[in-house]
Amino acid sequence: MMLHVPGVLTKQQVAQCRQAMEKGEWVDGNVTSGAQSALAKKNMQLVEGSAIAVQLGELVMDGLECNPLFISAALPQKIFPPLFNRYSGGQYFNNHVDNAIRAYSGADFRIRTDLSATLFLAEPDEYDGGELIVEDTYGEHRAKLPAGDLILYPSTSLHRVTEVTRGSRVASFLWLQSMVRDEGERTILFQLDTNIQTLVAEKGNADPTVIQLTAIYHNLIRRWADA
Ligand code: NI
Repeated sequence: MMLHVPGVLTKQQVAQCRQAMEKGEWVDGNVTSGAQSALAKKNMQLVEGSAIAVQLGELVMDGLECNPLFISAALPQKIFPPLFNRYSGGQYFNNHVDNAIRAYSGADFRIRTDLSATLFLAEPDEYDGGELIVEDTYGEHRAKLPAGDLILYPSTSLHRVTEVTRGSRVASFLWLQSMVRDEGERTILFQLDTNIQTLVAEKGNADPTVIQLTAIYHNLIRRWADA
């Protein structure tokens, strides 16, 4: 499942990020790549662990943690600290798969990457190209979202970023380990929760059917999730 999560950051927070990023130190994006990705990737990245990257990463994390749509779809257990990248002047990232395990340099922290996410920090009309294309068994899916919006997609997919032929595509990207490892189970839980929320809006929290379905939701979480 690929999901568009609107408004993870406000436009004001996006502007704050962009301003801070201009003062940051940028390096070749291949510092986070595996050997295959290194051949495919041409972009720049804010230095991982630098004061600006850490501070902006916390802003993104705060936005994620209070976003009910993101939480419902991802059921995050551990989120890798968000990183920041930029594509301009013909830069691109050809088809690749994200590494299954991601370790944070210098810390005893690693995750299994179940889900990948891109948080767009430039408006679509600021640059040409720079689409995220994700391949799954239903074909190719494209994403180029308004600044502040996030696209969530399975880390198991092959994906790429098309060449940026004008302007700069600035984004934050991250990986997370979900409490529910299996993509199919996670999708069922998301669909169930979405429908429960619709029913709650119509009938309220005290409706007997709402209570029954909420019990089913939590009992499925008990079966499928690791805390
Ligand atoms: Ni990737």
